[in-house]
Amino acid sequence: MRSATYDLVTALPEGDLPAYVYDLPALREHVSRIRAALPERVELLYAAKANSDPRILRTLADHVHGFEVASGGELAHVRALVPGVPIAFGGPGKTEQELTRALDAGVERLHIESEHELRLLLSLLGDRTADILLRVNLPVDVGPVALAMGGGPFGMDPVQLDRCLDVMASAPGVRLRGLHVHLASGLQARPQLTLVDKILTWAGTWARDRGIDLTEVNVGGGMGVDYTHPPRVFDWPAFGAGLRRTLARHHPHLTLRIEPGRSVTAYCGWYVTQVLDLKFSRGHAFAVLRGGTHHLRTPAAKQHDQPFHVIPDATWLRPWPRPEARDEPVTLVGQLCTPKDVLASRIMVERLRVGDRIAFAMAGAYAWNISHHGFLMHPHPTFHHIDEAPAPAPRPPYSTHAHRIS
Ligand SMILES: Cc1ncc(COP(=O)(O)O)c(C=O)c1O
Repeated sequence: MRSATYDLVTALPEGDLPAYVYDLPALREHVSRIRAALPERVELLYAAKANSDPRILRTLADHVHGFEVASGGELAHVRALVPGVPIAFGGPGKTEQELTRALDAGVERLHIESEHELRLLLSLLGDRTADILLRVNLPVDVGPVALAMGGGPFGMDPVQLDRCLDVMASAPGVRLRGLHVHLASGLQARPQLTLVDKILTWAGTWARDRGIDLTEVNVGGGMGVDYTHPPRVFDWPAFGAGLRRTLARHHPHLTLRIEPGRSVTAYCGWYVTQVLDLKFSRGHAFAVLRGGTHHLRTPAAKQHDQPFHVIPDATWLRPWPRPEARDEPVTLVGQLCTPKDVLASRIMVERLRVGDRIAFAMAGAYAWNISHHGFLMHPHPTFHHIDEAPAPAPRPPYSTHAHRIS
């Protein structure tokens, strides 16, 4: 934890807890390192679904080539917050209203998930144009991953791409820019590179066989975040170097896009709370925290222990002994009436007392925004941003090669 974060976490009034604290300078530094590691021809989109907090998006806007959105709501939110920043609109089950909104907003890329979706788009197009990527559900083995997306309702089987090409042949307003493939979440750099290599090999053959000059492939997100070993950050330098080699070998003119979410913002967020009660049940220590998984669903969703720091609080004004656990494993739970409200299970602590603060780390992605806020009607957390004078950086350009299918 940076000292500025520690200072804010300790200074927050008790009435502000639980609180989300976002460390924007840390985010800026992290995304700058990601950008520096990537070859020039690799464009970085941020998947807004990971965390669409306005100040996070504004901070990232200076460092990414664009944003990936997956709903009409995200599209409207991102456009309004950072007008002019390129948007790729993906995700299954786009409605007629969402596609219309995307056309009206002139999104830079639409990721088309099925032949039906393509036909729906054409029916709405009028005299407008749309730049699309076809999302393909490649049958490649992604190995052991946190979340496998291939083989599910995402994208199309390769055979269906040809049907889309037929449909597009009589629709000059739709420009095929390339392919989109997002197959897994939770891959570290080496398996991610192997996957990209397989995708590009397949895409190259697919395009060559059809006489298509492939100029763009988006290989999705899913760069791994290791909640059990927080310092083991995705190896962006190794990934960037590998991409450089892969691109040189396969496709000297291809623009490659990636659209990570979790690996960009996970580290900048903290969920700060407090021990309300500490008790022993059948010999095991439980710390009951203010808040819980209705604010931070990440550990329940991903079945991990959320890493945390204990920030001891010296004040104890009650006239009875302060409940505490010492040198023993403690399970940190929330205030919900369900045994599933567990944030970290059987973690050794030196000392934990009622009133101590707990700052859960890695709470900047798929945290507040995926949590079931309404359950039990507890108050929502407060939100705080650490911001030190940002160094304005010019946003990199989004490549604009055009490609029409013949
Ligand atoms: C199409 C697509 N792109 C990008 C992402 C972002 O993935 P991650 O946050 O794991 O990097 C997702 C996540 O589900 C996705 O479905």
